Amino acid sequence: MADPIRVLVTGAAGQIAYSLLYSIAKGDVFGKDQPIILLLLDIPLLREVIPTAKEDVGFKDLDAAVLVGSMPRKEGMERKDLLKANVNIFKSQGAALEKYSKKTVKVLVVGNPANTNCLIAAKSAPSIPKENFSCLTRLDHNRARSQVAIRVGVPADNVKNVIIWGNHSSTQYPDVHHAKVNIQGSEVNVFDAVKDDSWLKGDFISTVQQRGAAVIKARKLSSAMSAAKAICDHMRDIWFGTPEGEFISMGVYSSGNSYGVPEDLIYSFPVVIKDKSWKIVDGLPIKDFSREKMDVTAAELVEERDTAVSFLGV
Ligand SMILES: *[C@@H]1O[C@H](CO)[C@@H](O)[C@H](O)[C@H]1NC(C)=O
Ligand SMILES: *[C@@H]1O[C@H](CO)[C@@H](O)[C@H](O)[C@H]1NC(C)=O
Repeated sequence: MADPIRVLVTGAAGQIAYSLLYSIAKGDVFGKDQPIILLLLDIPLLREVIPTAKEDVGFKDLDAAVLVGSMPRKEGMERKDLLKANVNIFKSQGAALEKYSKKTVKVLVVGNPANTNCLIAAKSAPSIPKENFSCLTRLDHNRARSQVAIRVGVPADNVKNVIIWGNHSSTQYPDVHHAKVNIQGSEVNVFDAVKDDSWLKGDFISTVQQRGAAVIKARKLSSAMSAAKAICDHMRDIWFGTPEGEFISMGVYSSGNSYGVPEDLIYSFPVVIKDKSWKIVDGLPIKDFSREKMDVTAAELVEERDTAVSFLGV
C-alpha cells in the first residue's frame, strides 16, 4: 500500500463536511488504495479519531457505542438467513463490548432488526447491565410527533408524550392516548386538539408505521438525516436526561413487570431518564384498542427472539 497522504478539511463540523468526510475516507476522492490521514480543523471538542477495522481497537474502553452497521436484506434473501447473519454480527460485537469496553458503556443499537440485535448484543455481554442497552425507536417517536403537529398546525416541539410500543417495524403501535399538544400555552389532549378520532385511530397509525417504507420508495434510499437526528436525540437524552414532565420512546429490556409485555425482550416503552438511568413510565391506563396492538407487536418480537436465540449456540 502507498504511504498515507495528509488531507485537511476545514469547516469540518459543518454540513458539507458531514457528507464529504466519509467519501474521502472510503476512497471516492484519492483512490481506493490510498491511505489517508484526515486533518479536521474546526472541531474543538474532537480530540482524536481512531480509524480501525479491528474489534479490539474499536470497542476499547468505550463510554458510548452507536451500533448502526448490520446486515441489510439482499435480493432473494430468506428472513431466517438475514436474522442469522445479524445474530452473528451482534453476538460478536456483544462479546467485544464484554471484553474491551467499560461496564458502564451505553449501547444504542440502530442496525435492523434493531430490537433483536440489541437483545443479542446484551446477552453476549453478560457483565454489562442489560439496562445499558437500548434500541432506536426515536425516529418513529419523532414521526408520530410531527404527524400530529402538522395536523394541528403547531411546531413538532409542541407535541409531547407520544408513545411507540414494541418493535421498530410496521407492527409498532404509535399511541397518542397520553400525548399532549401545547396550543398557545395550554396543554390539550391530542384527541381534543386533533378533533378527528378516526384519523388518529386509522391513517395516523398506518402513516407512522409505514413511514420508513414510504421514504425508501420516494428516495430509493432510507431516511438518513432523520435517523441521524433521532440517534442524537436518543443519546443526548441518555446523557442529560429527559425534560421534566416528558417521556420519550426507546427500546429497552423488558423484565416482564410492565404493561404485560413478556420478559426478555427489547421492547419500545415510554421512558423517563435521569442520571443516565431510564425508568419505564408505569401505570398509564391502557384501552382495549391499544392492548391488542401492543400484544401483536410483542408476539412478533417473541417469535424473532426465539429464532435468534436458537442461532446463538450454533
Ligand atoms: C421487527 O422489526 C425489525 C425492524 O424493522 C424487522 O427487521 C423485523 O423483521 C421485525 N420482526 C418481525 C418478526 O417481523
Ligand atoms: C448502566 O449501568 C450502570 C452500572 O454499571 C448504572 O449505574 C446505569 O444507571 C446504567 N445505565 C442506564 C442507562 O440504565
